Amino acid sequence: MNLEAELNLAKAAGRRASKRLRRRETSDLAVDSAAGRDIKLAADREVEAIILEELQRSPHPVLAEESGDGGIDRERPYWVVDPLDGTFNYHRGIPHFCTSIGLWQGDRPLLGVIGDVPGERLYSGVVGAGAWLDNQPIRVSPQRSAAQAVLATGFPVGRSFAEESLREFTARVQQFKKIRLFGSAAMSLAYVADGMVDAYAEDGINLWDIAAGAALVLAAGGSIEIGQGGSNPWSRNVRASANPELWQRS
Ligand code: IPD
Ligand code: CA
Repeated sequence: MNLEAELNLAKAAGRRASKRLRRRETSDLAVDSAAGRDIKLAADREVEAIILEELQRSPHPVLAEESGDGGIDRERPYWVVDPLDGTFNYHRGIPHFCTSIGLWQGDRPLLGVIGDVPGERLYSGVVGAGAWLDNQPIRVSPQRSAAQAVLATGFPVGRSFAEESLREFTARVQQFKKIRLFGSAAMSLAYVADGMVDAYAEDGINLWDIAAGAALVLAAGGSIEIGQGGSNPWSRNVRASANPELWQRS
């Protein structure tokens, strides 16, 4: 497979999607559904259609947040798309949201592209070849001590807010110096890849939220563990870091 050609295709799709999201028209903010703690906007559907149209130029099938599993065979390469990660932020104008496109095979990320829409920047990376913010190479931070590290995390839509669940959350985060909740798993992983943040963890997060970001972290020299999350087949428990030593005490 020509990964460079696939990367260029994903970058073109990411740029087009980011440009469309930047318009943030009133009709984009129309709420399609607001079940539980989740929210879906017209923009999610609209931008996913743009990305799917671009990816038609690739032979690989697509798993996408809004339209589901487009006949993927996990033994062969497949795209994983989140047209808008940080939908709630987008809705409210909080400047942390992005478009996310990853290429995976089996349980392995191959490449990823994240369009940071408010930042007008494009992250890209190919595992084993390198990661870039626009055209500048990026690398994870050299941090090895959790006591000095900043952890990005989040509350996925299906997470229980019951006391016991929140106690588990506290136990996980208290070894870190600083905690950040950006409201976009994909942006959080891009920040790990470019060294602004040292680690990211979230349980019960969907594969499309982390697919491109996982590729970026690996491509930028970091490490990531991805386990099966809840009962939803696409749910994952994720721990990413500049260095696995950051997780030794958890
Ligand atoms: C959400 C974001 C958020 C995470 C949620 C996701 P969405 O994605 O990634 O950080 O905590 O679990 O659902 O809904 O904005 O695409
Ligand atoms: Ca998402």
